[in-house]
Amino acid sequence: MPLTEAEAPRDPYDLFNRWFREAHEAGVPQPDAMTLATAGDEGPSARMVLFKGFRNGDFLFYSNYGSRKGTDLVHDHRAALVFFWSVTHHQVRVYGVVRRLRRAESVEYFRTRPRGAQLSALASRQSRTVRSREVLENRVLELAARYPDDVPLPKDWGGYALRPRWIEFWESREDRLHDRLRYHVRTTGTWRVERLAP
Ligand SMILES: Cc1cc2nc3c(=O)[nH]c(=O)nc-3n(C[C@H](O)[C@H](O)[C@H](O)COP(=O)(O)O)c2cc1C
Repeated sequence: MPLTEAEAPRDPYDLFNRWFREAHEAGVPQPDAMTLATAGDEGPSARMVLFKGFRNGDFLFYSNYGSRKGTDLVHDHRAALVFFWSVTHHQVRVYGVVRRLRRAESVEYFRTRPRGAQLSALASRQSRTVRSREVLENRVLELAARYPDDVPLPKDWGGYALRPRWIEFWESREDRLHDRLRYHVRTTGTWRVERLAP
């Protein structure tokens, strides 16, 4: 279905969910992978993270609060996301403000992770230099022995929620005359749509 003002839903989440489902059904590898761009003292930086769904319209992801992205987000709460679904020729860009989830919310998600991933999160001071892989592996073994049952949520690990200010949908068209529709949120919570030149 072409991306036209007439066809596009009023609610950008309806369009996002439709495109996300289509990407999944079309066999896009890892459709939940998104680029997260942040800005900090040392300038901009970007990396992939996993999209973990919505909460009250916010895009959720999880990470280490002491990582580069974590310190960037303390410096500047604004961030951008990019999804690219090659098979369905779709890109979604999101710009907004990020806050940390409450600890209880992060605990809830952490408990759903496999034990190995929980231990790795606890062992890894993400983005800090480490002398060798062996150091990390030994730390995981130590922690596995210390926590034979439940692994506690690391102090410096948890969720983030990005509240969008705008969401842009891009669909490729012939001769590179692509479609771009950008949804801006109004203070009332409704959305205004504008077309951007490709
Ligand atoms: C497909 C993919 C998904 C990833 N998902 C996450 C994630 O959800 N959370 C995370 O902290 N790192 C994730 N990573 C690792 C990050 O890209 C990055 O290496 C790490 O978070 C450190 O980034 P920083 O130093 O910029 O904070 C993922 C990497 C890839 C390739």
